[in-house]
Amino acid sequence: MKYVFSGIQPSGSPTLGNYVGALRNWSLLQGEDRFCYYCVVDMHAITVRQDAEALKRRSMETVALLIACGIDPVKSALFIQSQVPAHAELSWVLCCNTYMGELSRMTQYKDKCAKHADNINAGLFTYPVLMAADILLYQTDLVPVGVDQKQHIEIARDIAIRFNNAYGETFKVPEGFIPKFGGRVMSLQDPAQKMSKSDPNPNGFVAIMDTPDVILKKFKRAVTDSDGEIRYDPENKPGVSNLLSIYTSFTDMSMEDAVAAFAGKGYGNLKTEVAQAVIDELTPVQQEYKRLLDDQAYLNDVIQSGASRAAKHANETLRAVYDCVGLHG
Ligand code: TYM
Repeated sequence: MKYVFSGIQPSGSPTLGNYVGALRNWSLLQGEDRFCYYCVVDMHAITVRQDAEALKRRSMETVALLIACGIDPVKSALFIQSQVPAHAELSWVLCCNTYMGELSRMTQYKDKCAKHADNINAGLFTYPVLMAADILLYQTDLVPVGVDQKQHIEIARDIAIRFNNAYGETFKVPEGFIPKFGGRVMSLQDPAQKMSKSDPNPNGFVAIMDTPDVILKKFKRAVTDSDGEIRYDPENKPGVSNLLSIYTSFTDMSMEDAVAAFAGKGYGNLKTEVAQAVIDELTPVQQEYKRLLDDQAYLNDVIQSGASRAAKHANETLRAVYDCVGLHG
């Protein structure tokens, strides 16, 4: 059996970047010979100050969204991180096996410090260690993520290898799983920047919950260039290449076929076609999400059963780790 693990923070409203870079693959990776653990990482979210009630509500909303995006809570374990204490417990042991130097090189840490200069807490610094604990607890083979998490997967691998060398084979060394196109969806207003839910300009991102009208409007306003030719060239034509990447993800077309389909057409056509492909796929997701939110009893059952399935596997790994380092546990 192969194991898949991934996580999403319950902060802000998830975007097309989250969907294309991660959630779409989460659903596709569910298969006969793989077991998937999908986690709403509320403990990661508190590295930035949160309103308590809003955080609890958003964690449940994120669970509903994941089911609406195709995660089957019977096939996979879908759970909330703070309901499986082994994540925090392993994180401490791993902290004692991680160097300050390697953590201080993390680009996301540097970015977050710049953005939240009033709250540079130790959790922001040790964030990648908690993430390594998330992954390593489940003897994970594959971690489906966007490009922005690549450095965090690397450090999780480094920590696993270091621990195995010091204490004997304990962790499987995980691999990242990043889509070829769409691993880094860019802002529609500034294609040099990653699409982000915290973008102060709402035209820069498409939220998964945006209405069809809003989605169309945002794509129509997308920044492109002035040469008028539709081809994939992220360096010289980042705006058009971003639209093409989104289009191929939503239509499952190859990049060559997509470029051929737009030969001789204008940017206006590209924008409306991309918007339509996105709307067609997201409309049923939005309907299912709304239906699920009205069924809190079901969502509660899902997270309880997800947490107990996850805890079983996680506690086995934690026990082995405690034994290696000499903790009674
Ligand atoms: P988060 O919540 O920021 O994002 C969830 C997933 O969405 C991907 N993503 C993108 N992909 C492509 N283009 C974009 N513009 C874009 N924006 C976001 C992210 O790469 C991610 O896969 N630290 C993680 C959560 C986490 C985690 C883990 C992930 C905690 N523990 C263990 C994997 C394994 C995060 O903040 O993701």
